[in-house]
Amino acid sequence: MNKYEEEKLKDKNHVATPRWVVENIYDLIDIQSFKSIWFPFNHYDSNFKLKADELKLQYKATHIFDDCGNDFFKTEPPKDCDLLISNPPFDQQNEIIKRTFELVETNQIKAFCLLLPLSTLETEKRADIYEKHMDKLNILIFKKRIKFIGKSNSFNTACCWVCYNIENLKEKIYWI
Ligand SMILES: C[S@@+](CC[C@H](N)C(=O)[O-])C[C@H]1O[C@@H](n2cnc3c(N)ncnc32)[C@H](O)[C@@H]1O
Repeated sequence: MNKYEEEKLKDKNHVATPRWVVENIYDLIDIQSFKSIWFPFNHYDSNFKLKADELKLQYKATHIFDDCGNDFFKTEPPKDCDLLISNPPFDQQNEIIKRTFELVETNQIKAFCLLLPLSTLETEKRADIYEKHMDKLNILIFKKRIKFIGKSNSFNTACCWVCYNIENLKEKIYWI
């Protein structure tokens, strides 16, 4: 068994996204309008990647346990990246949100969608970052809890998408 398969069994932060969640966000943002997509927390079995293959999207998928050990904090986005989209490990959300906005501010990515716990909208630190970028922010709140693949109902966290600079999203807030 490779390290990734071992990690999937052990790590409580490996929470795989079901296909309906991927198809839903792809429709909402019109994924086919993006030309250089980055999935930074996604290995070979990720539905983000599998659906992207079906749609013949242009993308780069990286993961800390892939052949190159692609740590999100050290990996460069693909050239002309116009979308970062993923379900990141929730336990590192503060650092991930910080780096994602830094990538926007340095023009390394144009837009992003991060699947996060609904509680991402609280705390002073995160609120300050979100407020600073309010002009292009959209929040998509799940009406029902997501049953993540391979997780029992005990992983029962309310979730939302935090999206930035997605042209197809016209409202600030949606319930999906
Ligand atoms: C919440 S899971 C999501 C998996 C996949 N994106 C999906 O939605 O099905 C997050 C994944 O990110 C990986 N990960 C953790 N830290 C990472 C890092 N610094 N860089 C890249 N991947 C990381 C974890 O091993 C885990 O598999």
